[in-house]
Amino acid sequence: MVLPHARDDADSASRAEEFVELVRSAGAQVLARVQARVDRPSPRYYIGSGKADELAETVRATEADVVLVDHTLSPVQERNLEQLLKVRVVDRAGLILDIFAQRARSHEGKLEVELAQLRHLSTRLVRGWTHLERQRGGSIGLRGPGETQLETDRRLLGARIRMLGQRLDKVNVQREQQRRSRMRHTVPRVALVGYTNAGKSTLFNALTTGGVYAADQLFATLDPTVRRIEDLSCGPAVLADTVGFIRELPHDLVAAFRATLSEARDADLLLHVSDAADPERDLLARVVNAVLDEIGAGDVPQLRVMNKIDLAGMPPSVQRDAEGRPDRLWLSAASGEGLDLLREALGERLGGERVRAALQLPLSAGRMHARLVALGAITSEQVDAAGWTLQIDAPRSVLAPLAGNADEASRALRNLIVPVAESGA
Ligand code: GTP
Repeated sequence: MVLPHARDDADSASRAEEFVELVRSAGAQVLARVQARVDRPSPRYYIGSGKADELAETVRATEADVVLVDHTLSPVQERNLEQLLKVRVVDRAGLILDIFAQRARSHEGKLEVELAQLRHLSTRLVRGWTHLERQRGGSIGLRGPGETQLETDRRLLGARIRMLGQRLDKVNVQREQQRRSRMRHTVPRVALVGYTNAGKSTLFNALTTGGVYAADQLFATLDPTVRRIEDLSCGPAVLADTVGFIRELPHDLVAAFRATLSEARDADLLLHVSDAADPERDLLARVVNAVLDEIGAGDVPQLRVMNKIDLAGMPPSVQRDAEGRPDRLWLSAASGEGLDLLREALGERLGGERVRAALQLPLSAGRMHARLVALGAITSEQVDAAGWTLQIDAPRSVLAPLAGNADEASRALRNLIVPVAESGA
């Protein structure tokens, strides 16, 4: 049962289609659609009372058990509609939360969704919210002495929200440890971002088939969406999948997902995936970029991936920017066409960053010196009783494999190739 919010503008139809898609991905069956033009929202039902009666009639005729509204409703509007229609009413934010709840895969993602759901619910805990019989009963037997149902609900909800907040803080500490550990290993990090349904998960699987979970085992068990890619020219990289982006993401949700999306913020490169066959792809890419800005990931370099070229009837190809770096790829994650181009582009983009700096090595570091010579990484050198002073000029990815050990030379090299701001974290 859908009630798309009709608009005058041209995107009304595609928006209605998208809402139907959202409803389907939440696992609901659409029995009927009711369109409403709302020029001036009514405080009572959001839609006019004539439209509300028509809706009630449709609910009776179709025996629908939920009404989904493609707009944000105030708690009061939602409750009034429920009283009139005698079925559950869920607005756009509620629906998106529901989908996220079904899709959250990681421990952290699940906590974040539940927290956002409870916050959303807590704004709806207004006097008389227990008008729907089946929403009662959940807390029977839990009521404190002298408390009304409403007070009990508020108290339980508040306690759960606090508890989830504390758990998430703990997970965030673990994630920070994981981030630092990756920093120490200097493995470049790539995060997949994109509008929902663009094909991120398909691409993630295609790139990491047979791959192992990310090196940090502590977190790998909690979050199965981070894996290593091994076969790149720049050496291994870590790839993280993130939740799908969506327009009008409820603000609470953006805030709640900050931690999951920190994978995007901390990445060296974002793979921004779009559906090449979608006529709205540019608009949706702007939505994704707006959310990235909001979570502080607006400055992370991007490689645009135009996916589903099989549907768009296009050949795989690479576009380069003014400096000759690959910045847009056309491929199909499902058929595998163009994946080789993506691997090459990743190697180029991740290995492209050069380190130009002076490196001090003790005379005992002859092995390291020899390896740097073999890599052609030294542009000039001086040696005295204290050791070598080398001028290094080489891609970070070429130096990284030499910097993973605990000895003094490895540590010196590591200090050189991990950006200062990050290594101090
Ligand atoms: P969210 O989890 O909603 O964020 O979606 P996602 O971006 O992870 O998309 P997902 O990988 O789940 O793919 C969405 C749909 O597109 C699935 O039905 C895929 O099979 C399909 N798909 C993905 N890549 C391609 C492609 O290259 N060609 C075609 N024809 N379909 C694809």
